[in-house]
Amino acid sequence: MNQMLPRILPAPDGKPLPPEDTADAFRAFARDLADGRRPWTTGEADFLAGLFDQLAPNWDTTQATGRDDPVRDALARGGPFPHGPCLEVGSGTGQFTRLLATAFPTVVSIDLSEQMLRQAARRSPARVRADASALPIADGSLAAVAAIDMLLFPSETARVLAPEGVLLWINQLGQDGPLYLPAHDAAAALPGHWQITEAAAGWGSWAVLRRTPGISEVRQHRNVLRAAGRRTVQRRI
Ligand SMILES: C[S@@+](CC[C@H](N)C(=O)[O-])C[C@H]1O[C@@H](n2cnc3c(N)ncnc32)[C@H](O)[C@@H]1O
Repeated sequence: MNQMLPRILPAPDGKPLPPEDTADAFRAFARDLADGRRPWTTGEADFLAGLFDQLAPNWDTTQATGRDDPVRDALARGGPFPHGPCLEVGSGTGQFTRLLATAFPTVVSIDLSEQMLRQAARRSPARVRADASALPIADGSLAAVAAIDMLLFPSETARVLAPEGVLLWINQLGQDGPLYLPAHDAAAALPGHWQITEAAAGWGSWAVLRRTPGISEVRQHRNVLRAAGRRTVQRRI
């Protein structure tokens, strides 16, 4: 069952709002990409890598919110989390890597932008330049994928997560953020069935998405149990 937790971290004054027209265009792009209504091409990857390479030197001082409420609240109330490695996709300058490392034994940071990854050198010990649309990660090998102000690549995310793995879906400015996608839309875009725990925190929002068995899997599981029950009864007779 989905769960909307009450807010406990208030939204302070002075929320930084991105220019509305640019934010609208990015949100539409993020939504269409997640829904599969538009493809991810090398053109888009090159454009974003170039854009974030340019922004990297001043990211922490001019673009970052300087707040960690949504990530902190997600880690405090969104668990329990499975034990195992966490992949931080679109990790940027690594502002949240250390915080993620308080909940997971290993955090690997992946970003398209070499310059963003360079800025993360002192914060993230494991950095890889890669595209989240084609992750260099084995199937089912991760306890968590953390996507903080990042685009959603549904099939890759579902592929690399272990069956009990979780997606931490975090928007630092909530619905005002340029890459905002409601948690329900993210769950609908992911293959399979996902349960959502979410809350608003500070200026933003967070959601933890967990895979749940769909109706067909539940039926299959029931049939296995029934068959096992029949075998036990036959053996007793
Ligand atoms: C808005 S920034 C957020 C950075 C960081 N998560 C934070 O909250 O400070 C988005 C980051 O995602 C990266 N990015 C965008 N598309 C990507 C992709 N397909 N694969 C990997 N990284 C990507 C960008 O280079 C950028 O560093």
